[in-house]
This record gives sequence, structure tokens and C-alpha cells, in this order.
Amino acid sequence: MSSVLNSKFYFILSLTVFFLAASVESYGQKSELSFEFHKNRRIELRQKLPYNSVAVFFSSPVRNRANDVDYIYHPDPNFYYLTGWNEPHAVLLVYKTTQEDQNGSYYEKLFVRERNLRNEMWNGKQLGVEGAANMGFDRVESKKQFIKSSLDLNEFDTILMFDFKNDVRDDKTDSSDLFDLQQHFKNVINYPDNFNAERYRLYQKIRTAQVQDLSNIKRMISYYASQDETLIEDPIIKDFLNSQESNSLVDLKKRTAYLTRDYNFDIDQLSYLMASLREKKQPEELSLLKKAIQISAQGQIEVMKAIHPKMTEREVQGIHQLVYKKYGAAHEGYPSIVGAGHNACVLHYITNDKTDLKNQLILMDLGAEYQGYTADVTRTIPVSGKYSPEQKALYEIVYDAQNAGIDAAQKGASFRAIGNAANKVVEKGLLSLGLIDKPEDYRRYLPHGISHHIGLDVHDPGLYETLDTDMVITVEPGIYVPKGSPCDPKWWDIGIRIEDDILITDEGPVNLSAAAPRSWEKIEKLMKEESPLDDFELPELAID
Ligand code: GLY
Ligand code: MN
Ligand code: MN
Repeated sequence: MSSVLNSKFYFILSLTVFFLAASVESYGQKSELSFEFHKNRRIELRQKLPYNSVAVFFSSPVRNRANDVDYIYHPDPNFYYLTGWNEPHAVLLVYKTTQEDQNGSYYEKLFVRERNLRNEMWNGKQLGVEGAANMGFDRVESKKQFIKSSLDLNEFDTILMFDFKNDVRDDKTDSSDLFDLQQHFKNVINYPDNFNAERYRLYQKIRTAQVQDLSNIKRMISYYASQDETLIEDPIIKDFLNSQESNSLVDLKKRTAYLTRDYNFDIDQLSYLMASLREKKQPEELSLLKKAIQISAQGQIEVMKAIHPKMTEREVQGIHQLVYKKYGAAHEGYPSIVGAGHNACVLHYITNDKTDLKNQLILMDLGAEYQGYTADVTRTIPVSGKYSPEQKALYEIVYDAQNAGIDAAQKGASFRAIGNAANKVVEKGLLSLGLIDKPEDYRRYLPHGISHHIGLDVHDPGLYETLDTDMVITVEPGIYVPKGSPCDPKWWDIGIRIEDDILITDEGPVNLSAAAPRSWEKIEKLMKEESPLDDFELPELAID
């Protein structure tokens, strides 16, 4: 059995390598998304842009891990979606209206780093301006040119952009790295020093507040400010929240006026537009996403067959990732969560260092990232191969809740219907087992949301309003009962989540990760099967 499986692996692997090699030669870039895909996404964005505007995107920064070692570069998903460009230090401009230069008209311009042969010797081929010019952009120029250009952005009614994050290093050996590109752009648009987007938004609310709406606006501002200690301490926001009379509102409006003067840049609209573009997947995206999901489901299957009580959390993680790499997935889409017993109750547990798994439940939330698209699949299985009565009782509630959530994932339904349906089942189940007395207390054991989009981001942007064809979402209820919870101790340290990736279609929801068994019966059955890893043993290390 194991050799049959291996030859299948290698067959798939060799096809993948052949395809990638072909795409490198013809496109200069290892992407399975076509240039037309990215071009069409830019056209679609342009159609959504407001009158006389330009949208500006910066590539993500290179992030330092320690000393002279950087993290593996990961492109910004919006930037990649629109360009297919996965090198750092780049800027994209998409214009609503035709621009003219000596070569005619254009709607978009990409600025990229120049090739650097010394850098290529250490880090591999860079595409440079020439490589990008073959990818279907109206105009491509070098990043140095961006710094030199006057940009002339005053003529636009609106410059749409994302606010800047504070994690960009200035490489002093490069006078046009991302830091310099952003600095130049900030100068051009008169971006104020110490600009704080959240504060700006709240000041605008104060400036435009009407006396009759005051209590609603105060409630809203108080909510947002409470999430950010710098805002709750802000003198204008504090005075506004404490103000009693409309007189003081006039004064507060004056105080905010300068700080909310009308810039022609806008930091809100672009995320909305990108969410509206990205929430429904294109056919090319769907095939990559399906592959990432199938790979992840296979990882769960292989672990179900291979796991035994002497394994560690890290080894289990390693098996998932071995499967991912076998199928050509370069990365995991997010840090893998592999937690047994109490660790399964820690929602974003990524330490994965427990060695003594015994007969506990192990929660495995992992996703292969294939060509940038990430799955997000969770299974919770008994390390021993058999669920205890308590584990099974809670598992069945989560399973029923997930079925209810999946059933609610119908085209035209509201996004919220999924969570409502699943939460209701958990609430009833916990009441009937006596873990809670009051219905609303179910939140103690299920503190997270039930569903999100997936795509280039594990928590992909979307409007989260109405479900529609070609959206891919998760349905992921759970129950977590950490030690010390106010219930019978027999439930303690059981943590369960079941998470699948669901495609919304005209005919109803389709579970793309269904290959990995979900019901306790099917899981127990599969866990009895042999694994190609059963005979995988390593010698003891010879340590003095
Ligand atoms: N893996 C993170 C999540 O399920 O949302
Ligand atoms: Mn998820
Ligand atoms: Mn997950």
C-alpha cells in the first residue's frame, strides 16, 4: 500500500514541477494564475473606483527575523491579487480615468525594483522592469523612477489607499526601498506626521455629529475608543464622551476641524472595494483553493492513520506538513495549531510542544497554502483511536452544530445565519448535558465566530453580508472546556473544533474538505487503517 501511494505522490509531483517549469520559461514567474486573471482584476477594480480617483498599493515589507536573517517574503494579498508580482519594494497605481504620456494612454503603472546581479547570486533570479513588462501592465517603471517622479496627485479628487503600518525598515544601502517609496508618497500627498487613522475617523464623527444623534455617536465612539488605550486617553475624545451640553459640542467641533481638514487621500474605501472584489472567487482561484483544501484534507487523513500515543504534537504537525510539501504546497497559510488535552482549549495555540499525548483529544487546525491560496481545516481526534464517552458527547454536539451551520450556508442567506444556526445547537447541547444553566452561557465554551472567507488570506476580506455563488467560507463551531470551568470536572480539558471549507453554489453548499472524515464513527474507523509511516523509525541520537 505504501509503495502505491508513493508512486502516486511522485506522479503528481512530477506533473507539478513540469507545469511550474513551463510557467517559469514562458512567464518568468512561478505562478499558476494567468496574467489575464490579474489584468481583469485590475479592470474590475477600476470600474469600481470613484470619479477622478487613483488607487495606490504598496507591496508588503521584508520582515526581519533576527540579526541578518529575514522571514521568507510573503507578498501582500491585495497587491498579489492585482499584479501577480511577488517581489518586494513595489508600488501599483490604478487610475479611474485615462492617463496620457508620450507613448499614448494608460490606466495603470507598476514600479518595481531593478535587477541586482549580486543580489541574484545570493537569492535567486529577480524579474526587474523587463520581467514585469511582459506581464501585461500598461506601464512599468523602476522604483527609482517613482522617487524621481513628481507624481502630480493633486489633480485627483481622491487618492484611495490603505493606511501605513509601522513595520517598514529603511535599508540605508538602497535609496528607493519600500521605506523611501512610502516616504516620497507621503510627502506628495501631505500625509500628516503622527497621522492616526482611527483617531481621524473618530474626530470626523465628532466634527459631523448632530445634536439629536449625540447619544448614539457617543456610544459608538466609546466602543471604538475602548479598544485602543491611546484613543481612550485622547483629550478631545475624552472631552466629547464627558460633554453634557450642546455648547461644548460646538467647541469640540472647532478643536477637531484642523485635524480633520479635507485631505484628498482616503483610507477607508479601498479595503471595502477590495473586499467586494475578493469575496467571490474566480475560476482560476477556485482551482488553486480546491487544491490547497484537498491537500489539507489529505494531511488530516494521513495523521488519522499514523498517530499513536507516543507521538508528540510536533511530530503530528510534521506529518501534516510532509503531506503538504509532497503535493507542492510551499507554506502553511497560518501557524499550525496542534494541541492535545488542555492545549486544545487554547484557541490560537501554536507552541505545539507537548510530548505526552496519552489518550487525550488532539485538535489539529492547519491549512496548506498552495500558490498563495490557503485552506483552513480542523479535525479533533482521540490519540488512542477511541473517543471516551465524555469526548464523544461533546463531539456530537459540535458535529451537529457544524451540520446546521453548513445547511445554513445557502446562496442568498445572510452570513450571520451560519453562526446563528450552529450556536443554537451548541447552546441546546450544553444545556442538555448540564454544562450550563442559562442559554446565553454557551459563549463561555464557544467564544469565537463560526465562519469566515478563505482565499489569499486565511481570514479573507469580504463584505460578510449575503452569501453568494463562488464564495468559499469556513464553518467551524467548537466547544472548549478548560480545567477549572464551572461544570463537572469530567468535562475539563476537552477542546473540540471541526472546521470545513465550504463552496457556496446555486445548488447549495459543497464541502470541499469532505475527504477528511468528520463523524466520530468514520474517524475511529480510519484510525484503524495502516499508515505508510507505521514503519518510519529513526535511530536514537548519539549525544554525549
Ligand atoms: N485557523 C484559524 C481559524 O480557524 O480561523
Ligand atoms: Mn477558520
Ligand atoms: Mn482554522
